Amino acid sequence: MLGNQRHLFDIPDDVHYLNCAYMSPLLKSAVRAGHAAIDAKARPWGISPPDFFSHSHAARELFAGLINAEAEQIAIVSSVSYGTAIAALNVPLNSGEKVLVLAEEFPSNLYAWRVKAKACGAQVEAVARLANNDWTNAVLIALEDKRVSVVVIPQTHWIDGGQLDLERVAEARQAHEFSLVIDLTQSLGVVGVDVRMIQPDFLICATYKWLLGPYSLGFVYVHPKHHAGKPLEHGWVNRPGAEDFSRLIDYVDEANVDASRFDMGERSNFQLMPIAIAGLKQIHRWGQVHIEARLRNYTQGLRRELEQIGFTACDEAYRSPHYLGMQYPDGLPEDILQLLAVEKIFLSKRGDSLRISPHLYNNESDASSLVQALTKILNRR
Ligand SMILES: Cc1ncc(COP(=O)(O)O)c(C=O)c1O
Repeated sequence: MLGNQRHLFDIPDDVHYLNCAYMSPLLKSAVRAGHAAIDAKARPWGISPPDFFSHSHAARELFAGLINAEAEQIAIVSSVSYGTAIAALNVPLNSGEKVLVLAEEFPSNLYAWRVKAKACGAQVEAVARLANNDWTNAVLIALEDKRVSVVVIPQTHWIDGGQLDLERVAEARQAHEFSLVIDLTQSLGVVGVDVRMIQPDFLICATYKWLLGPYSLGFVYVHPKHHAGKPLEHGWVNRPGAEDFSRLIDYVDEANVDASRFDMGERSNFQLMPIAIAGLKQIHRWGQVHIEARLRNYTQGLRRELEQIGFTACDEAYRSPHYLGMQYPDGLPEDILQLLAVEKIFLSKRGDSLRISPHLYNNESDASSLVQALTKILNRR
């Protein structure tokens, strides 16, 4: 089992940060890479034309390595909403068909589909949560409706931490064909995915949470069947011959026929890309299976302690290993997050659940401080 990795982050001993699902802290190595990147922009004579391509390629390779894909299958985007917009522009949807999403899905996975469905005379249908949080079965039941032609799902539900079995959902295409669009923002970096098994149309991930990266950067796996699809933007950098800066006015109408044709403008992103690369490299060094094992162990221990003071959580079989959505039968005080913040304990509340999302920097002191603080707060009522 991996040991605690707090020494790789800049987190004071008295801060109990259990909120990676909100935003990860940066690794010290990523902070160094970011400072060096800003210094490089102050002296741009050191930035050469090949740098516009090499850093992006390195990032694509590292991301691809987490999902068993190839660098050419990865587009670089600013956000999940950008990735969703690409997917919505490229998957077919006809009048009378349905787009399936989960109830209480993150908005970036919803709005683009509402717009597309309206334009096509189709409908967006939200799959309701089952009492035990078995989202996979909820989706499989909804898929019995043959009018579903697009399925938009995460691997981890951002509110309750319920985990979906992506392979089982993908297998449902044997009975009934549909496009599959996946958002891995709340799971990749902890839970591995194999796109060769799942064959999604588009798989989208922001970097600022479990990939330990910067804000405003994300990646999209694009299935080869979409490699001649419609990009959102029509920039210069993702076209044949772009490497030769002296010939950019020899215009080329067709963008690269791979995922890079979907890249956002200025995707080389000299300031943020080195930070993303540092995060991805460290995840590869640890290994997702080891990250997952440690976080499962940590959350299981914490869950047991919280249950002893009256909290409940969803069925363990359907829970993501890095995520605890804890409920309190009498309800939670309105100001619970502020009361915890006074003790320098940071986490989120989503709906009526406390959302606890640790990473490898969390230690026993974080867990015991949380249990003690919650005991005190709840006994005060
Ligand atoms: C599941 C999920 N997807 C996406 C995002 C971020 O979306 P965007 O990159 O469009 O801001 C979040 C942020 O909390 C999220 O939880």
